[in-house]
Parts: sequence; structure tokens; C-alpha cells
Amino acid sequence: MAAAAWLKLSVALTCALLLSSSACHGLQVGYYKKTCPRVEAIVRDEVKRFVYKNAGIGAGLIRMFFHDCFVQGCDASVLLDPTPANPQPEKLSPPNFPSLRGFEVIDAAKDAVEKACPGVVSCADIVAFAGRDAAYFLSRMTMKINMPAGRLDGRVSNSTEALDNLPPPFFNLDQLIDSFAAKGLTAEDMVVLSGAHTIGVSHCSSFVSDRLAVPSDINTGFANVLRRQCPASPSPANDPTVNQDVVTPNALDNQYYKNVLAHKVLFTSDAALLATPATTQMVRDSANIPGQWEAKFNKAMVKMGAIEVKTGHQGEIRRKCRVVNH
Ligand code: HEM
Ligand SMILES: *[C@@H]1O[C@H](CO)[C@@H](O)[C@H](O)[C@H]1NC(C)=O
Repeated sequence: MAAAAWLKLSVALTCALLLSSSACHGLQVGYYKKTCPRVEAIVRDEVKRFVYKNAGIGAGLIRMFFHDCFVQGCDASVLLDPTPANPQPEKLSPPNFPSLRGFEVIDAAKDAVEKACPGVVSCADIVAFAGRDAAYFLSRMTMKINMPAGRLDGRVSNSTEALDNLPPPFFNLDQLIDSFAAKGLTAEDMVVLSGAHTIGVSHCSSFVSDRLAVPSDINTGFANVLRRQCPASPSPANDPTVNQDVVTPNALDNQYYKNVLAHKVLFTSDAALLATPATTQMVRDSANIPGQWEAKFNKAMVKMGAIEVKTGHQGEIRRKCRVVNH
């Protein structure tokens, strides 16, 4: 315990002396240039194939990157399947199951990458590249993120940790800010990354009870549309999905912030961005200043990708993304 605390402290001090947090973790743009030069093209081709068939998979991949990074750091722990020794991994926890999607894209990308350069590329980096590439395609090839790599894959995946670290949709602003601060991200990073709710879907169960069943600030017309799409009490057997952004559902754009201002967003956590003047101003700027949100989202995705990255003996390069190496 004391030894672990000292190790953490000394790592933190060493990092503080280096220039940037990605340098501290050893993350680099073009990390595989020598060892697997085609990796980023291979992953991009696989993501393209799946996203052009179903844009929703792209939303799933961006969310997967977030859910990976917030639990045990960006280490592909979200990909691990249950085993007899570990029957409750992250992917079975309520924030991930049954809603998290895109696992088949990571499998396909890993297979293709292993053929080109066996044993070299981590699953954690593939998740980061895939999230980056989904943002590229869903933004009509305008969001070009230079995603550093060099993450190792973890060996721990625990559903309780997913529940403890992933913010639920009923969080208020203070709780959201705290949960991002616990990962080294600022309130502005939180506001900026929430813009990912400009794509994809939500299950009715994620918002009916606190947004439709009780008085809330949600737009009346929008609430009525949702009431027609959702049962009054969703259950696992009856839990439809609705688009998050009714205006441009498959475009990674700043429409989310216009929806927040119009009170046409699904979650308490989305509406909470208007709880203080400071965050309201961020929402307004993202909605009104062309290109500002896109530039901030680009940077925030890279920052999120550096959370608690594993190096050396903390991790491995998994052969199959769903199981730890023997
Ligand atoms: C700020 C705190 C956040 C909360 C409380 C939150 C919560 C949620 C919830 C409840 C859903 C719907 C799940 C379902 O019922 O199907 C969802 C969907 C989604 N979230 Fe978030 N989220 C947050 C931040 C983020 C961040 C940081 C990202 C990525 C940068 C993100 C990306 C997405 C995407 C893309 C979807 C749609 C997924 C799909 O269509 O498969 N979210 N989020
Ligand atoms: C998962 O994490 C929780 C909370 O940190 C802990 O109590 C539990 O023992 C862990 N489960 C496993 C299987 O390691």
C-alpha cells in the first residue's frame, strides 16, 4: 500500500518534469511507423467498412473509447470477455451492457493487423485509432485527429469499477465535473466531450424516469415525441432506442450544443451544462462559433486517450482482444 503510493508519487513527479502528459506516458504520434507501418490504414479501412454500412457503429466506437479510458485507463479492459475466473468484466456492467457496440469492428481490425504485423499492436491503440477514425468518417472527413499511440493492454476488467467510474445520465453538473476531474479532465473537457452526443442513440431506460416521468426542463414538444417512442416504464424486454440528435443524427457536428440551448437533449447530464454561467457560455460558443467545438473536440479526444495509460510491466500486447495472454 505505502510502496504503491510512493511508486505512484514518483511516477507523477517524473512526469511533471517532462514536457507533456503524452510524452510522460510514452505515447507518440506514428508510434508504429517502424514496427507496423500500415496499422493506421488497416484500422481505418475496417472502420470505414462498418461505419458506411451502419453509422451507429461509429457512434459506438467513439463511446467505446471513452468507456475504455475511464475505467483502468485506456487499456482495452472494456473488450475482455467473461471467463470462469472473471465472470463480471466491464463489458457486462450496466453502463456497457447491452448498449455498448462496435466490438466486432475491433475484432476485425485486430485480425487484419495481426496478419500484417503479429504481436506488435495493442488492442488499446486499436480502440483509440477506431474512435479517431469513426470521428473522421462521421464528420465527413473533416475531423482529423493526430492520435498518439503506445498504450499497453491491461489484465484487469471489473464491472464494479465500470459502475464506479463512468458517469450515469442522471448526474448533475458538479457530479459530472468531479467524475471527469478524477480522470484529470477539466470542466471544459467535459463540456466539449459531451458533444459526442450529437451522434448515436440512447435506450429509453437511460432517460425516461428522470426526464419524462417527472417535471424537467425538457422541451414539451420534444418530450411528447419521445413519449411516443418510449414506453412509460422501459424494461429489458421493452427498451427501444431513440436518436440523440434529432436534427443531424449521424453527423459529428456542433448541433448538440444547439439542442442543449433548445432543451432538446435526452439526459439530465446534457441539460446540466446550462447549470452555471461558465458552462452555459461554453455551450453558446460551441453552438455559435463555427469550427470552435470541432477544434476543441479534436484536442480533448487526444487528452482522453492519455488517461492512466499502462507501460512496462503494467500491461501487455494482447494476441486476441477479448482475452488476456496466458
Ligand atoms: C458527460 C458524461 C456522459 C454521460 C452521463 C453519458 C451517458 C450516455 C448514455 C446514458 C448514453 C446512452 C446509452 C444507451 O442507453 O444506449 C450515451 C450514449 C453515447 N455517448 Fe455518452 N455520456 C457521457 C459522455 C460521453 C463522452 C465523453 C463521449 C465520447 C467522447 C460519449 C459518447 C457517446 C456516444 C457516441 C453515444 C451513442 C452510442 C451509440 O449510439 O451506440 N458520451 N452516453
Ligand atoms: C471489483 O472491484 C470491486 C471494487 O473495487 C472489488 O470490491 C471487487 O473485489 C472486485 N472484483 C474482483 C473480481 O476483483
